[in-house]
Amino acid sequence: MRSAGPIAYRQGCLADVPACLAVWREAVDDYQGRLNEPPLPEEVGPIRRHLAHMITTDPDRFWVAEVPGRDTADGTPRVAGFALATVRDGLWYLAMLFVLPELQGRGVGAALLDRAQAGRDAPPGGPAVPGPDDPLGSGIRTWGMATDTAQPISNGLYARRGMVPRLPIWRLAGEPHRWGAVPTLPASLEAVAFDAIAANGRDGPRRLAGIVDEIDREAIGITHQADHEYLRRDGRAGFLVRERGGRGLGYAYGSPVGRVGPVAAIEPDLLPALLGVAIRQTPILGTVGVWVPSSADAAVRALLDAGLRFDRFPGLICWSRPELPFARYLPINLAMV
Ligand SMILES: CC(C)(COP(=O)(O)OP(=O)(O)OC[C@H]1O[C@@H](n2cnc3c(N)ncnc32)[C@H](O)[C@@H]1OP(=O)(O)O)[C@@H](O)C(=O)NCCC(=O)NCCS
Repeated sequence: MRSAGPIAYRQGCLADVPACLAVWREAVDDYQGRLNEPPLPEEVGPIRRHLAHMITTDPDRFWVAEVPGRDTADGTPRVAGFALATVRDGLWYLAMLFVLPELQGRGVGAALLDRAQAGRDAPPGGPAVPGPDDPLGSGIRTWGMATDTAQPISNGLYARRGMVPRLPIWRLAGEPHRWGAVPTLPASLEAVAFDAIAANGRDGPRRLAGIVDEIDREAIGITHQADHEYLRRDGRAGFLVRERGGRGLGYAYGSPVGRVGPVAAIEPDLLPALLGVAIRQTPILGTVGVWVPSSADAAVRALLDAGLRFDRFPGLICWSRPELPFARYLPINLAMV
């Protein structure tokens, strides 16, 4: 291992995103390459936009580690690792943590994680870091993230802090061809586009936010309006499923590039029909891709029955509490609940 020189930690900013994505690519391709997995795709537009959104909502929880540049004669610092977490309504969630392969196993990941948990600098011997064992008045009730099953380092690092790998989460992908598995809604229910609710009078956006918050509170125990606003800005189309003219029972998002989710249901049995709404109502170019926690078993079975396939190894949801809110909810992706 080459000597890295002194490692410095500082809060990150939007200008650091390209360097962080280069670290992400090198770190992932390194361990996946050793498993004979293909390199990450070149396209980084979606992940760059996700990162920018989360940095904007949680700038205090974005930290970078720097070393003197290895490619520059003057030693201009180079980003060698980064961490980014979000807090939504008492849920702390780690979006990304990556360290360059040559610096792994030397405490850089742990030091970045301390800072993303604290939301401030957390030098050794400094103030204690809030976490599952003691939230230290942070107001955070639950701590979690999603990892890769093929990565013992990250799973071990988080489990030691009380965020234990508990639940597989699968990416299901492909073209549905047995449509009965993701059925149309029964006559008693209707699907309404979020855009139609938001456009209905001056009060529309507030009413939509209220309906979505109520479903989120019931399905996952938190609200995350900032993420819903981001999803809509980013081109995902949301649909509310409700009793005709009555109360909301769930929602589902689709997108023209085939990403389905998040999906939330008051009753888990409604998940297949909610998936049917998202897939039918969005003009999708190409294949469908959805992240599905194993505990949302009705959704796993429906998508497999419809003809989608498990794509690669599953991820693992690490969570500080034994009870998980994923029986009635399919998250946005692995980086955002
Ligand atoms: C995961 C990652 C960010 C950790 O950063 P790091 O700087 O390598 O980690 P640290 O040196 O701070 O901590 C390593 C800890 O991992 C744990 N660990 C390592 N190997 C382990 C194993 N086989 N089993 C269990 N725990 C293990 C230990 O707790 C170890 O701490 P210790 O050395 O004090 O015992 C980094 O290795 C990385 O980028 N990996 C590839 C990409 C990735 O998986 N990112 C996480 C996505 S969720």
